[in-house]
Amino acid sequence: MLVSVLDRSVELDLRAHHKRLIRECEATYDELAPDYDRHLRDECDYRSPEHVAAELARLGASGRWLDLGAGTGLVGEALVDRGVDLCLVAIDVSAAMLAKIVCPLYAERYHADVLRHLPVERHSCDGVVAAGLMEYIIDPARFVRQVARVVASGGWFVFTFCPNNSGCVEPFDEETDLHCHDGELVERCLEDAGFRIDGREEFPAYVNGDQGWIDHRMLIARRGS
Ligand SMILES: C[S@@+](CC[C@H](N)C(=O)[O-])C[C@H]1O[C@@H](n2cnc3c(N)ncnc32)[C@H](O)[C@@H]1O
Repeated sequence: MLVSVLDRSVELDLRAHHKRLIRECEATYDELAPDYDRHLRDECDYRSPEHVAAELARLGASGRWLDLGAGTGLVGEALVDRGVDLCLVAIDVSAAMLAKIVCPLYAERYHADVLRHLPVERHSCDGVVAAGLMEYIIDPARFVRQVARVVASGGWFVFTFCPNNSGCVEPFDEETDLHCHDGELVERCLEDAGFRIDGREEFPAYVNGDQGWIDHRMLIARRGS
């Protein structure tokens, strides 16, 4: 009884924290949108979309994929560069970021919080990608359950996160509210939601001001039947 009251209070705490984070994230990215592509290229040397696109090319990805936290569509642009032809659905909490998407692979775009609602049918997607989104996710178990609800049986989930070994989710940049995640915890969340881990790759992902290079781990997970 005590445990379930505590669980409930932790969950309410997480939801309140997430709501605040999302409001701030939306405002930040709405403001950043006009300069996002230049900033990420020239000041951050951002590389994750290329790694995700290379993985999808290797998997021979096809069909309809969600791009969660799609931003301005850099993952789609990296896929075009590699000749991967997918039908992409962009979802992002910032309408201004979505409005900047010009990549023709994006057939649909939705302004939504990925933790609250994914506006597609149950198990209707061949795969899901998320590059640079996890830094804003403080409840990875809930996030992965949302993804599992929309991926078809045998479908893929390819995403990046900043790994740590602390056993939990931690802020690594208080000013911008960026979070890193324990690698084993993330993999446990995936397995609990019915995914099998098919691969991992780690690489320098972007320069975060004075902190220097931030590593991303990309996980390649497949939903069981
Ligand atoms: C670092 S950007 C990455 C954008 C793009 N995927 C890329 O690689 O360039 C993070 C994006 O995630 C979005 N985002 C953060 N939390 C979100 C949430 N809970 N639901 C939907 N979008 C979210 C932000 O608005 C922002 O566009």
